[in-house]
Amino acid sequence: MGASTEYRIEAKNVVKRFGDITALNGAELRIPANCVFGLLGPNGAGKSTLILAILGLHQIDGGEIFIDSEPLNPASYEFKRKIGIVPQELAIYENLSGIANLKFFGSLFGLKGSDLDSRANELLEFTGLHDRRNDRAKTYSGGMKRRLNLAAGIIHKPEIVMMDEPTVGIDPQSRNLIYDLVENLANDGMTILYTTHYMDEAERLCKHIAIIDQGRIIAKGTVDELIDIIGEKDVIELEIQGALSDGDLKQIVDDGTVEFIDGRLIIQTANGGAKLQKIMNSITSKNCDITSATIRKPNLETVFLHLTGKELRD
Ligand SMILES: Nc1ncnc2c1ncn2[C@@H]1O[C@H](COP(=O)(O)OP(=O)(O)OP(=O)(O)O)[C@@H](O)[C@H]1O
Ligand SMILES: [Mg+2]
Repeated sequence: MGASTEYRIEAKNVVKRFGDITALNGAELRIPANCVFGLLGPNGAGKSTLILAILGLHQIDGGEIFIDSEPLNPASYEFKRKIGIVPQELAIYENLSGIANLKFFGSLFGLKGSDLDSRANELLEFTGLHDRRNDRAKTYSGGMKRRLNLAAGIIHKPEIVMMDEPTVGIDPQSRNLIYDLVENLANDGMTILYTTHYMDEAERLCKHIAIIDQGRIIAKGTVDELIDIIGEKDVIELEIQGALSDGDLKQIVDDGTVEFIDGRLIIQTANGGAKLQKIMNSITSKNCDITSATIRKPNLETVFLHLTGKELRD
């Protein structure tokens, strides 16, 4: 069976087991050219395993992977030139300076002399590290190390880049800097597979999103298409103290769902604003205290909750 020609990356029914653990359980992915494609899922969902499988670093137990319609051939020079990886674990040498790191990674791809110098300096400017280029990476902040890690992954100007949680563990300002870098790269025509468990990141950056859970893609589409899955419902979230059963609210919420998750009551219902007072009255009449109440429109977090019954961020 061949692959369709319109995708840069196509994964079909990919299975990967580690002993008793099935990390990928029939995962499917189709990534078109020139987009930031978000792979969104909680810890342990299989995001990194899928990336490593696409890179040919994991031998898969089932399924097929195609790059530009050709069966994956990780040993080929063409593949190595075409693809880049920004790994989840920092892959930089802490004892080397920023520029020495980039020159090292560039040299692995055959860059040398003034080409290597100018590419390394261009990336140091691009990532805002030029002033600190001669300092050892170990003196960098977490956000600066992440930016150097990103620069190292794209030193050879790959057409397709996998970024595995490139903002994990950094402050909001550094996250914003990385978003800008990703957007700039995408505007220059790079195809980016971006994994995250932050739904706001996926909403901001990614035109196409696939949601992965337990090794399987459980939904895919644009942000709007995914939110459509749960319809026009509002999300009411209440923190309560005291015992309550969901039956207590079923009469008021006759068109949606009532769930208790981690001590919070999550209600999805149409016209939530109009029902909120009644819901709160019903709760207090059962001798429960309400310590916080919020109401919002659905987002990717809600979609995930709806599909899996659990929270994305854990
Ligand atoms: N080399 C390995 N050996 C054994 N089990 C593994 C290995 N790599 C991954 N796993 C298991 O496979 C599952 C998927 O892991 P994976 O790292 O792909 O998840 P993830 O979505 O990247 O999670 P995170 O958000 O925490 O990075 C997990 O249960 C994990 O423990
Ligand atoms: Mg991971």
